[in-house]
Amino acid sequence: MRFRAESTNPASVHADVLAVPIYKEDAELTGDLAELNAAAGGVISQAIEWGEFNILEHYSALIDAGTIAADRILLVNAVRRGRGPWRARRLASTATRRLQGKGVERLALWLRDGEDEDGYTAAIVGALQGAYRPYAHYGRVRDTEAMLRSVPEVVLVGEHAPSQDVVDRAAHMAEGVEFGRGLANRATNDLYPEKMAEVARELEADGCTVEVLDVDQMRALGMEALLGVGQGAAHPPVLIGIRLPGWEKASPERRLAIVGKGVCFDSGGISIKPSERMEEMKHDKSGAAAVIAAARTLARIAPDAPVMAVAPMVENMPGGNAQRPGDVVKAMNGKTIEVTNTDAEGRLILADALHWAEQQGATHLVDVATLTGAASVAFGDLISCYFAKPREWGLEVQRAADATGEWFWEMPLATEYRPAYDSAHADMVNSATRDGSLIKSAVFLSEFATVPWVHVDIGGSAYLTADRAANPKGALGTTVSTLVRLALDYSAAL
Ligand code: BES
Ligand code: MN
Ligand code: ZN
Repeated sequence: MRFRAESTNPASVHADVLAVPIYKEDAELTGDLAELNAAAGGVISQAIEWGEFNILEHYSALIDAGTIAADRILLVNAVRRGRGPWRARRLASTATRRLQGKGVERLALWLRDGEDEDGYTAAIVGALQGAYRPYAHYGRVRDTEAMLRSVPEVVLVGEHAPSQDVVDRAAHMAEGVEFGRGLANRATNDLYPEKMAEVARELEADGCTVEVLDVDQMRALGMEALLGVGQGAAHPPVLIGIRLPGWEKASPERRLAIVGKGVCFDSGGISIKPSERMEEMKHDKSGAAAVIAAARTLARIAPDAPVMAVAPMVENMPGGNAQRPGDVVKAMNGKTIEVTNTDAEGRLILADALHWAEQQGATHLVDVATLTGAASVAFGDLISCYFAKPREWGLEVQRAADATGEWFWEMPLATEYRPAYDSAHADMVNSATRDGSLIKSAVFLSEFATVPWVHVDIGGSAYLTADRAANPKGALGTTVSTLVRLALDYSAAL
């Protein structure tokens, strides 16, 4: 997908389709929309009168463009008026998704609200997201080439069009989001820990230094928490570390490690999960996919960023050698953990990965994890929640999320709940009671980070369980754009 941005009147853009955002406030066509409607010979008001497009009922409608320069108009439900990256991203992905399989060569997307650079960037990320087809990776015989067409060129039209440099950088970010999403969607028989290490090694071509610790190396380092989770699986665990060129050059006071939960499959282990929808647990590597994709993107647009990506990769499987409830392991930081629930595995692998990242020299940590089902219960699939220590560091993450159109919300890191993890046999158990379990999961992790740290729980937001207007069922590439933006801001502040 090629991108351009232009400050012109939407009525004069030559394109196969002009996408027009419609807001609830547009019940009476006024202002900019009335002007476009008049230029088009009234086709928009006609479509609304016919009931072809109703803001309360439809996500989009494709109609003839009448007398404007474009051939067709795509009315897109943009809900409420107001600018902002989140809206722009959604609008763009709804538009390109709606046009999948159509012979559209050029889509013009009208950013009606005078978006700034962030708005344009988010629209570019969204436009590429909307063109994504999860089934294209493994293929389906029934899909013809014509059905698989997507829009090759997108022109963003609005006031304040940014320079082509900004557009190109946004395109890199968009591609990074899709790369991470593709990894998160891959089946576990095709993407197990060692395969993820191969993916990571490909980042050497982008100038990164890639380290892959095997079981023996991790045992020598004392990573029993991570190893215990992986010991039941036929595929052995690995710990992936990816250093950007800027990591080595950075001053020791400012180095950012992004750590992603990489459970290639979470069966629950001996504390096995119900079989219903267990296939979704291939997405339990979404955090690892996100940090690897962010590192790859940064290596291409900001190689001097002092960033390292860390991905602990395991399969959580039952079996004769699997970890049992009641087993006690010693984490790399010396704390002993009684494993009361083998399905609370994410926190175990992150415990060692966070500590290792700090030992490598990280002064700031962000981890991304499909850590709890509780995040999904509380926040659904639109919102990622995060915990921060200190909260100022969390604000930096929040700003990066807002800027790229990802919806983040802070939760309290109530370390007062620490006694919920008291154990008769060890420093702590790994699973607390259900009440407050979302908060308590973060409290567990906080025992393994001593520098500024943010934990992002994408248990609900990593993937969709059904098709939606803006995205298909499956992984979304959640947090990739936020991590990239955070690292850009982080290095700009050096
Ligand atoms: N990967 C799951 C969390 C999850 C479940 C994410 C469903 C997305 C959808 C995690 O490892 C897990 O099993 N968490 C348990 C924790 C509990 C055993 C303390 C959970 O959320 O039930
Ligand atoms: Mn689990
Ligand atoms: Zn899990």
